[in-house]
Amino acid sequence: MTTHLGLIGGSGLYGLALEDAEWRAVNTPWGVPSDAILTGALGGLPVSFLPRHGRGHVHAPGELPALANIAALKALGVTDIVSVSAVGSFREEMAPGHIVVVDQIVDRTVGRPASFFGTGCVAHVSLAQPTCPRLSALAADAAEAAGATVHRGGIYLCMEGPQFSSRAESRIWRDAWGCDVIGMTAMPEARLAREAELCYATVAMVTDYDSWHEGHGAVDVQAVLSVLAANVQRGRDLAARLPERLAEGGHPCPHGCDRALDHALMTAPDR
Ligand code: ADE
Repeated sequence: MTTHLGLIGGSGLYGLALEDAEWRAVNTPWGVPSDAILTGALGGLPVSFLPRHGRGHVHAPGELPALANIAALKALGVTDIVSVSAVGSFREEMAPGHIVVVDQIVDRTVGRPASFFGTGCVAHVSLAQPTCPRLSALAADAAEAAGATVHRGGIYLCMEGPQFSSRAESRIWRDAWGCDVIGMTAMPEARLAREAELCYATVAMVTDYDSWHEGHGAVDVQAVLSVLAANVQRGRDLAARLPERLAEGGHPCPHGCDRALDHALMTAPDR
């Protein structure tokens, strides 16, 4: 299988210098993705970049066409998705500007379509390990090589939004639930990537301390944007360092991400 890197991220990655770059409009049986997809190559490896919220940031987290986004990347031949997103931190040591390569996700979203399966075809994939350990390690290596302070592993609380958390919620997720970071986008992306038999890793850029921290004010969009703006070059550098690491080939995936449906389908094949 030819490795093909899919990147899902924000405006910071638009400036990624791909060889033979072309914006391609893709349609899928689940509708159109958040935007056209920038396809091309980096160091000879095929790369496809999808702006998660659309150019101009027009889709709220709860309205993202996640099924179409994953289906479109799959249709283009993507094998490995590195998802880059902004998060709030529940840990003093995970400071703004740091990167957390998440290994667990707690899903607190509500009402987002979250499966390719359902009526007519039933499947239950495993999400015990919702991210791919091999791809996550490569992404962490790339982030370190780009000069970032990297935390390998962390529990990501995915909230519905679009509002940020209350202080009471923030303290519950942190103290009672043991979560490390909070964001609005990792789910259902991670679920759908697994159903689509894609390796998936989440590179979470810490932009704030959410609302639990006595020494910091409440989160606001300006603070989030200013940390993201200060780290744009690092994000691009990280992405540009992924292909050389992926080029050695990771398929078949040692963790079975690319065979997730082998034992997941319940519906009889002749139905
Ligand atoms: N994205 C960036 N910071 C966040 C926070 N504190 N909560 C949810 N999503 C975020």
